[in-house]
Amino acid sequence: MKHATSLVAARSTYGGVALYTAMLLTLGAAAIHFAVAPSHLREYLPFGAFFVIVGCAQVVCAVQLAARPTRRLALLMAAGSAALVGLWVVSRSVGLPFGPTPGQPEEVGLADAICVILEMLSIVLLLVLAVRHPRRRVRRPWLPVVGALPSALLTLGLTATAVAAALTPMPEAVSAAPPTPGSPAVSLADLTEPPGTEPVDRFTLVTQESQIDGQRLWTYNGTVPGPELRVQQGDRVQVTLVNQLPVATTIHWHGLRLPNAEDGVAGLTQDAVQPGQSYTYEFVARDAGTYWYHSHQQTEDQLPRGLFGALIVEPAQATEDVDASVVLYGQPGHVRIDRTRIDAQPGQSVRLRVIDAVEPGMDGGPETPILLGTPFRVAALDGHDLHEPQPLEATRVPLGMGQRADLVFTMPATNRVTLQVAELQGQTSPVQDVFARFAAAAPPSQSVTIGDGAAPQQPDLASTPVFDETTYGTPASQLAGPFDVTAPVVLDKQPGIREGRPQVIHMINGQPAPDVPPLQVTEGQSVQLHIVNDTDEYHPMHIHGHVFTLLTRDERPVTGSPIHLDSVLVGPHETYDVGFIADNPGVWMIHCHVLLHAGMGMMMTMNYAGVYTPFEMGTRSGNLPE
Ligand code: C2O
Ligand code: CU
Repeated sequence: MKHATSLVAARSTYGGVALYTAMLLTLGAAAIHFAVAPSHLREYLPFGAFFVIVGCAQVVCAVQLAARPTRRLALLMAAGSAALVGLWVVSRSVGLPFGPTPGQPEEVGLADAICVILEMLSIVLLLVLAVRHPRRRVRRPWLPVVGALPSALLTLGLTATAVAAALTPMPEAVSAAPPTPGSPAVSLADLTEPPGTEPVDRFTLVTQESQIDGQRLWTYNGTVPGPELRVQQGDRVQVTLVNQLPVATTIHWHGLRLPNAEDGVAGLTQDAVQPGQSYTYEFVARDAGTYWYHSHQQTEDQLPRGLFGALIVEPAQATEDVDASVVLYGQPGHVRIDRTRIDAQPGQSVRLRVIDAVEPGMDGGPETPILLGTPFRVAALDGHDLHEPQPLEATRVPLGMGQRADLVFTMPATNRVTLQVAELQGQTSPVQDVFARFAAAAPPSQSVTIGDGAAPQQPDLASTPVFDETTYGTPASQLAGPFDVTAPVVLDKQPGIREGRPQVIHMINGQPAPDVPPLQVTEGQSVQLHIVNDTDEYHPMHIHGHVFTLLTRDERPVTGSPIHLDSVLVGPHETYDVGFIADNPGVWMIHCHVLLHAGMGMMMTMNYAGVYTPFEMGTRSGNLPE
């Protein structure tokens, strides 16, 4: 028979559905190959050319298959697709022996994963076509077209997703503040601590992989959190980071006002420190208070693995008998505390420096520690003293990630004092407001005991009051308007595809990082930020190298003590005004401290006029600060 090897007859039956679907799958794979070609052409020409050729071949074969299907063509296409899938498996497992990074496995991305799925499905269908018995009569030729519709829609959806992912890759190279030719400028790399005669405190922090309680963690000097660094106000601090991790890293000094070059942000103020390398940070600890340090390279990954610790700057004159830091960390529902006991005698005064390093879920909600057994004062927030704080009893103190509160109290005569972290239930449900969270509070499972004696009375957690910083303490002179610069910081989110993957894109002023227009300031200006949260999430907004004064919340002015913060917890649909003086030249991060949100784009910079960065972020340098 003339058409012995032809599949034409099969088009009218189920084989027709298989035929059209195989064609569509092949066209989808071709589209994805075209979409990834440009970035490959830039990176390594032969690979780029290869993807163009493969894409063209797939288009020709797919058209030919639909027009003149033969067994031989089906087998040929199946073999070709199988070869592509094989190549992909090798490149993603052991790495190809040639190319820009020979012998190194590439990461699996969304676009290539979808492409491989389309190709594998097409292989199955092509093999079915090749072995299927040819039919003689063509009946109802529209039937296979209709039959192929569902798979066509699916293929189209997958292809569109993969193409979108391929066309929005991780940025290759971005400068947050490129030098402007012709205008005089200083490199931020020169904005270091000038030499001085201060007493020097030296530390070495070795980042390493450590085994703790059966978990593989990344640590500073083998512990999580890293060692508490305690220095005296006015001291010169020298910290040498020795990187023994398999990846590059940095250290950021959260909350400290220090020279820009010492800020530790990969791709902004330095290149990430490579494995085996070391790097020394040097700054004078100007402000007393409770601070912390953490990695600012791939922060979303590195911080939760264990790269964080407390940094305490003691005032020249100690004000309390007992002074201890407490680091909250882990995830909501599994919050851990770095100590369970603090020694104190009845009558002694105690300063408890609570640091929230807990990485929240998508809702970004705060931790709400509570001190029981004695009245206490919130003596400082983010390391900065409050004016005439009055005593509180059994009150929850909300802390967004990155924030700190110093709780000061006198040890009672007969009972011990406990700091409790209430675990919250229903972590995955989007929580609308802080009070709803409290109502959902489960019994506390984490606590720190201070001193000895009877256990304090346990209040009903659902009805304990919540600390409100805007009405606490008494007023004193503070920064006030008019301001030289007023800038909106509008926080919003929207689902989409960014950096090669689908995500809930988190935006500032309508753009995600690195496309958020920077806040431009000139040294000496007074600046007001009008922060508007258009989401149902919490955003602890953090500014580097500066301390801002809280002016209003939801348009109502702060009536209590002046509040000075480096991170302001902006609740769902809340509005805040904060003010500060631009007195520390450089290029500084402003971002949400919920690592998930920052990783999805909620990050921008404040750029001083006349300062540029010689560093760049992106896949080329490997500096990925979020
Ligand atoms: Cu604690 Cu930019 O971070
Ligand atoms: Cu956020």
